[in-house]
Amino acid sequence: MNYTPEELLEAARAIAENAYAPYSLFRVGAIAVGADGNLYPGVNVENAAYPSGVCAEASAISAAATAGVRKIDVVAVACIDAAREDQSYPCGQCRQRLNEFRVETVIVAGPDGEPRVHSFEELLPFGFRLD
Ligand code: THU
Repeated sequence: MNYTPEELLEAARAIAENAYAPYSLFRVGAIAVGADGNLYPGVNVENAAYPSGVCAEASAISAAATAGVRKIDVVAVACIDAAREDQSYPCGQCRQRLNEFRVETVIVAGPDGEPRVHSFEELLPFGFRLD
């Protein structure tokens, strides 16, 4: 990886400023590192019809897929409004989305904002894929 965990988390925090989260007031940013070496940012985009909202990870994956990326190496996630920084672990549905693009490493912030680097297997053991 050409970026340090600190750099990726910082980029996730920076893009979280663009989150559209008027309902939860919980702004999340995600950075997907494509196998092409490029960074694909995403934010959560909420909706008045609540289930229509999308997570930051889903946005980042969509940006990468739109660019033609089919393998994502790393995803970093940060919330800039959580009471504790360690409240930005990907939700279950996003873990499945990460699995689809064979993400290997997930970086979130620990309680004091320091990077926690997890293998994807830690977050979703025995994940379902058709390939
Ligand atoms: N959210 C994300 O974007 N990513 C996560 O990993 C957890 C939750 C969003 C969904 C919703 O817009 C808000 O955070 C509160 O749940």
